[in-house]
Amino acid sequence: MIQIINLHKSFKNKPVLKGVNLEIYDGETVTIMGGSGQGKTVLLKNIIGLMKPDKGKIIIDGIDITTADKKTLHNVQKKFGYLFQGSALFDSMTVYENIAFGLRHMKLSAAEIKERVKLYLSYVGLEGIENMYPSELSGGMKKRVALARAVAYSPQYILYDEPTTGLDPQTAETITDLIMSLQKKLNVTSIVVTHDLKAALKVSQRIAFLYNGEIIDIEQPDKLLNTSNLFLREFVTSALINQTNYN
Ligand SMILES: Nc1ncnc2c1ncn2[C@@H]1O[C@H](COP(=O)(O)OP(=O)(O)OP(=O)(O)O)[C@@H](O)[C@H]1O
Ligand SMILES: [Mg+2]
Repeated sequence: MIQIINLHKSFKNKPVLKGVNLEIYDGETVTIMGGSGQGKTVLLKNIIGLMKPDKGKIIIDGIDITTADKKTLHNVQKKFGYLFQGSALFDSMTVYENIAFGLRHMKLSAAEIKERVKLYLSYVGLEGIENMYPSELSGGMKKRVALARAVAYSPQYILYDEPTTGLDPQTAETITDLIMSLQKKLNVTSIVVTHDLKAALKVSQRIAFLYNGEIIDIEQPDKLLNTSNLFLREFVTSALINQTNYN
């Protein structure tokens, strides 16, 4: 379970997170939505310990990572898969090496690693591209390789930062289905950051809205369209209109 309690983070006196409270229960997928620059990526980076908050707690399975020592933090980090916004593949490594990288600490044989890389590439619809380099891939392909890398070592928690942004609608749907099937098959707990309302409605048990440094509302997908929060209703309506235009 992930508990985020009164989280604050500023950059050069510019407050970004101003008291975020959020709990993510085991086995659920929570989507975080919110406008550009509201602090969604900053929040994910705090959850995985890549950034330190100024104030507040982040408790992962009972351990507060904001005060944990390096070794404890590292052990907690091993429970996470992280799909970075913008993929962040290692450019000097092949697709194979990129995905195998996270598998190295799993005590698998070389043959098992090879099998697993192949399996996860097939999950994201990219069979047989093991020997290619990131510079040879399209943006959408990079995203899918990064996704395979984030999930291939069966983490307990997966953080997805805009997994479908920049993909064509069909590939976006494939990725969305993959996120859902991983949750069902492996019982992973996921946080998805996205602007894609259609994907959010499909994958999440709850959708949280980050605005002005706080989670202003959290709703189940089927209740969202009837929310009493006027600001939110406007956000949802405009997201639906934009999506209709795009598709
Ligand atoms: N390392 C950093 N140093 C200084 N400012 C930062 C840093 N990281 C983020 N910020 C600032 O924090 C704010 C929130 O950024 P963040 O990347 O979390 O937004 P976001 O909600 O993920 O937006 P988007 O939807 O565009 O990805 C922005 O104003 C950004 O400039
Ligand atoms: Mg972001």
